[in-house]
Amino acid sequence: MTQPTLALIGTGGTIAGAASAASVSTDYKPASLSLAAVVDTVPELRQRYNIGVTQPMQLASYDVRPEHWLDLHAAVMQAVNNPHVVGIVVTHGTDTLEETATFLHLSVDSDKPIIVVGAMRPATAYSADGPANLLDACSVAACPGARGRGTLVVMNGRIHSGLWVGKRHVSSVEAFDSPLAGAVGEVADQAVQWFRAAGRAPTVAWQAPSAWPRVDIAVAYAGVDETAMRAFVAAGARGIVHAGLGNANTPTAYRAFIQSLPAQGVLVARCARFITGSVTRASVYADAQYGILTAGPLPPHKVRIVMLLGLAHGMDGPAIQAWIDRILLAG
Ligand code: SIN
Repeated sequence: MTQPTLALIGTGGTIAGAASAASVSTDYKPASLSLAAVVDTVPELRQRYNIGVTQPMQLASYDVRPEHWLDLHAAVMQAVNNPHVVGIVVTHGTDTLEETATFLHLSVDSDKPIIVVGAMRPATAYSADGPANLLDACSVAACPGARGRGTLVVMNGRIHSGLWVGKRHVSSVEAFDSPLAGAVGEVADQAVQWFRAAGRAPTVAWQAPSAWPRVDIAVAYAGVDETAMRAFVAAGARGIVHAGLGNANTPTAYRAFIQSLPAQGVLVARCARFITGSVTRASVYADAQYGILTAGPLPPHKVRIVMLLGLAHGMDGPAIQAWIDRILLAG
């Protein structure tokens, strides 16, 4: 039987991390091993699949910047356009894994499965979870039922939508979940179980930007004022995500400043800071009147990616809001 061909793309992270001893699981150097070396630790990978390995970057994901996404996007598209490749697996550090997964989910228009996978424990640890996660990611990438779901994240036996997944624990191997949305499936050995029908959010009509616009996040807290937002505007921000209190609220004195930003050419999106739940468009903010965006349950760092992509593709506020609404409709 012909083995399925998978494209594995390495970017670094803890899945390629090394510590001073096997008993050490939190004090280590991410991105120490090449992806090819990690693949060699899991012999079943080459027994089950034709594996192609590329490594466009090698870094801890806390150093990933939107500029890196351009190289990653090009590497993913090369695999997508290879007719032999049935699925793509991106190995990545977990700190910004959900941001890269969201970026790919909203910018790669392909039915081929793209799986982003990482590990919470370095490759050298007794408790290393990378080998099992990588094997699971390949099982999902080769699964016909993974087609048409956009970018997925596979961690600790769970399959999540790249859009809804988030890291929820600093060190546990059970670190990822999808608040409110839930996992889309599970994988154990090579058995993949889906919990819902295939479907995905609409992507942007991707054109690699020559430069990313600046989009910042301003987190609200008791007593917050407009100092951070003013600094972002002075630094050239074209968009600011207001990570607000409760249903994306803010102290009354600060509200007028937020409302004034869209008229100055700075897009603002209201979303909730550390809690889940769908932010509603609010009459007290006069969102519609002032052109303030809302994004339901999307957390601040994901709303930032939508704004980055939208602004980089020439969308104005209403166009970005319409795209967000279509993303949320797709679930
Ligand atoms: C990183 O994000 O590269 C370090 C942490 C991790 O991969 O778990």
